[in-house]
Amino acid sequence: MATSEIKKDIVWVGALDWDRRLFDELIPLPDGTSYNSYLVRGKEKTALIDAVDPTKTGELLENLQEAGVTRIDYIVSHHAEQDHSGAIPEVLEVFPQAKVVANEKCKAMLMDLLLIPEGRFLTVADGQTLDLGGKTLEFILAPWVHWPETMLTYLREDMVLFSCDFLGAHLAQSRPLLSDENRTLQAAKRYFAEIMMPFRIQIRKHLEKLQGMAIDMIAPSHGVVYPRPAFILDAYAEWASDRTRNLALIPFVSMHGSTREMVEYLAGALVRQGVDVIPCNLTHTDIGELAKELVDASTVVLATPTVLGGAHPAVAHAAFLANALRPKVKFASIIGSFGWGGKMVETLLASLGNLKVELLEPVLAKGYPVGKDYQALDKLAAAIAEKHRGIGVLS
Ligand code: FEO
Repeated sequence: MATSEIKKDIVWVGALDWDRRLFDELIPLPDGTSYNSYLVRGKEKTALIDAVDPTKTGELLENLQEAGVTRIDYIVSHHAEQDHSGAIPEVLEVFPQAKVVANEKCKAMLMDLLLIPEGRFLTVADGQTLDLGGKTLEFILAPWVHWPETMLTYLREDMVLFSCDFLGAHLAQSRPLLSDENRTLQAAKRYFAEIMMPFRIQIRKHLEKLQGMAIDMIAPSHGVVYPRPAFILDAYAEWASDRTRNLALIPFVSMHGSTREMVEYLAGALVRQGVDVIPCNLTHTDIGELAKELVDASTVVLATPTVLGGAHPAVAHAAFLANALRPKVKFASIIGSFGWGGKMVETLLASLGNLKVELLEPVLAKGYPVGKDYQALDKLAAAIAEKHRGIGVLS
């Protein structure tokens, strides 16, 4: 892939992964992804800011060649996860004088994960700087976006923030600078949901810290570079806040039509009450889309038939993920059907312990729903609308 100068003497030398469709063997990647690596040339020293996924090491080395690099003094490693660090051992072989610049925690993890010898590191602390000659790198510890060792780098003279995973997006685009705001916002929201959402409280603190800094450009390690930082900082401030919107999300599975009938009836009742609704059929909904909608939904209603006494495994999986991602959802309920009994509600509730939600009366139908079940669904829709009015998202 071609290299690209994003500011004078700052060159994108990363790799695009157009074809990758799964990350961590878990997260779907409909838009592929990128591993952004940046070369910063000072008058005396040259630094590489993060590397790339080990599968793309060859591309990184070709890009360095294309950029005419004959010496790298520092490889700044913000984060030990292999999609940014995996190529470091080979870069160290090609540039034997290079030192890996990392904080103590990251150094220990890189030694564990990539077997990099301790002698190859230059350890830095929060606020420490490194002068490349007219370009000063300032290191900012930013734990839990999304690992405990994460660090950011601020290039003082150019006012560029290299933010690693933080503020990124899984998106492959041929040129590094943001060009399609809507596409990028959707990809960034999805990425926030899948990776950052469990750390909303820490994210708010990091955003506060960044507010006090003069930032002209944000260059994350996935997705595109933001020449207008407010674009992504404002979006993160909203997503990380406690504010939700007038949305009820209904992740569902139906085996023989009873649960589907209940979902469709409830969806209609909610719309009549003025509540926006998104039913997600878990047999084909991309789990990343579900996560994205969880970012600001006020209510989640899990809908499932009873299978072997509990929830359908696809619904149990969605509940497990929602619990792990800790969205700011405020109300929850469960609807579904059963043939002869079971403990579906109890087992689902047991998997939602992390969610600080108010539970609204579940609705269970024996077999296909009948009059009393529809009445109960109407009551649930009214209760959801009332709750949404209570938190000010529905007038
Ligand atoms: Fe993109 Fe946490 O690695």
